Amino acid sequence: MKVAYVVVSAAPPALHVGTLIDSLHDSGWNVCLAATPTAASWLDVGTLSRHAGNPLRHDFRAVEWPLADAIIAAPATFNTINKWAAGISDSFALGVLNESIGLGVRTVACPYAKPTLAAHPAFGRSLRSLESWGVEVLPNEAIRSSWTPVLEALDR
Ligand SMILES: Cc1cc2nc3c(=O)[nH]c(=O)nc-3n(C[C@H](O)[C@H](O)[C@H](O)COP(=O)(O)O)c2cc1C
Repeated sequence: MKVAYVVVSAAPPALHVGTLIDSLHDSGWNVCLAATPTAASWLDVGTLSRHAGNPLRHDFRAVEWPLADAIIAAPATFNTINKWAAGISDSFALGVLNESIGLGVRTVACPYAKPTLAAHPAFGRSLRSLESWGVEVLPNEAIRSSWTPVLEALDR
């Protein structure tokens, strides 16, 4: 079974990641969830671990996960996008995203920042950097009303 890592950061779609897990399961993916520390504080870690079928990881404890075939950053906050592009790895979630570049694993980013943050020059620069390193970057807030853009990206 193909393995998808879903890296969740702290923007409102994080609260609906259960439906993304369902859609990925329906499409034949084994799902491993990582959350930034702030996102983890918003989520029910135990319930989502059982739902995904693998332990949700949000800190640097040694936990076994199968190797990834795809990595999805959804939602990816302004903060996480900028830290990822800068190569900052001060959380397990950012470590996964940073390693995706070196591993060459297929990676999809779903940025999610309100217009006043998205207008900051660092945001566009970070998204362009990630794209130039092979990350597929979806339009900002493309996942506002459904996870379909993620599933379509994985099907391409
Ligand atoms: C209710 C609420 C909604 C938020 N929505 C967003 C958002 O849509 N996009 C965003 O970039 N940050 C949003 N934030 C701010 C982030 O949660 C904050 O910048 C946090 O430090 C992000 O950390 P992370 O990237 O490590 O998850 C929101 C915060 C709160 C409390």
